[in-house]
Amino acid sequence: MMKVLVLGANGQLGRCLADQLAGTNHAVTLASRAEINLADFETTRAALVSLEADVVINASAYTAVDKAEDETEQANLINNLAVGNVANVCAEIGAVLVHVSTDYVFDGEATISYGEAAVTNPQGVYGQTKLLGELAVQESGCNHLIIRTAWVFSEYGNNFLKTMLRLAEGRDSLSIVSDQIGCPTYAQDIAKAIVKILSGIESNNQNWGLYHYCGDQSTTWFGFADAIFEQAVAADLISSGPALTPISTAEFPTPAKRPAFSALDSGKIMNDWAVQSSDWMSAIKVVISKLKSI
Ligand SMILES: NC(=O)c1ccc[n+]([C@@H]2O[C@H](COP(=O)([O-])OP(=O)(O)OC[C@H]3O[C@@H](n4cnc5c(N)ncnc54)[C@H](OP(=O)(O)O)[C@@H]3O)[C@@H](O)[C@H]2O)c1
Repeated sequence: MMKVLVLGANGQLGRCLADQLAGTNHAVTLASRAEINLADFETTRAALVSLEADVVINASAYTAVDKAEDETEQANLINNLAVGNVANVCAEIGAVLVHVSTDYVFDGEATISYGEAAVTNPQGVYGQTKLLGELAVQESGCNHLIIRTAWVFSEYGNNFLKTMLRLAEGRDSLSIVSDQIGCPTYAQDIAKAIVKILSGIESNNQNWGLYHYCGDQSTTWFGFADAIFEQAVAADLISSGPALTPISTAEFPTPAKRPAFSALDSGKIMNDWAVQSSDWMSAIKVVISKLKSI
């Protein structure tokens, strides 16, 4: 049994962590922004010191990739400076920090899955600030895991799967980007992986450091959308999916540049912490059945 604090508990990963931690014997404190606002460094420090957590899981982030191009300061505050503050307090109180980062730290020029040692080169403000947050964790000296993940979806919050289903309600056809490759990742699988890591920490596993964790197969946004509609029709959530047209990134310009290829290699975390990879195809079915029962 450990004292575990989850920051950003209202986000999609935060809510999945709440689900997965509910089945454990850890003493869990779930803190949303209302309880601990990471932008308020002193309040955050005081809360962390008084809670005396063994492990702090940071599921909070500024995740609006395009908006970050205009809101650089806010993105940097949450993704970098506030993370540094949390990490420094963790170092002081001897707590382990489990921090979550992103595939958008890469430029997408690779052709094989990125390993942890691959050179970073973020293309937008979101990725830049997340990378600075990683460095702040590393520089703090706290015992930590930084878990980079990608293309996160779940039954909670805002994500690509839910956006596709919403768009399908009013449209017969959709154009979807087909030249960006990545690995969709089910947020409940990330949460399960973190719970497994907690067991490892309790058993004195000290393989601290940087890790990649994502879905077990790469695809494109077009491929992901196609799989979502196939399952949604099969589960009778919708009667028929919209006709999908593949388009290029150039035909769908966004304020933030995204990597064309961001598949991550999850081998190291599976090896060091005995976690299972995320079977995102099966997870689509699970999420759709959960959404159907709401
Ligand atoms: N979503 C993806 O596709 C994706 C891909 C790669 C990596 N990641 C990383 O995975 C992690 C989890 O992402 P997610 O998809 O769960 O994101 P999310 O659903 O957007 O949740 C982020 C949470 O952070 C909270 N937050 C923002 N500012 C805060 C502050 N000042 N104080 C406290 N909490 C604050 C938000 O609070 P409110 O609810 O009050 O807004 C929200 O609940 C993040 O580190 C993200 O960078 C995500």
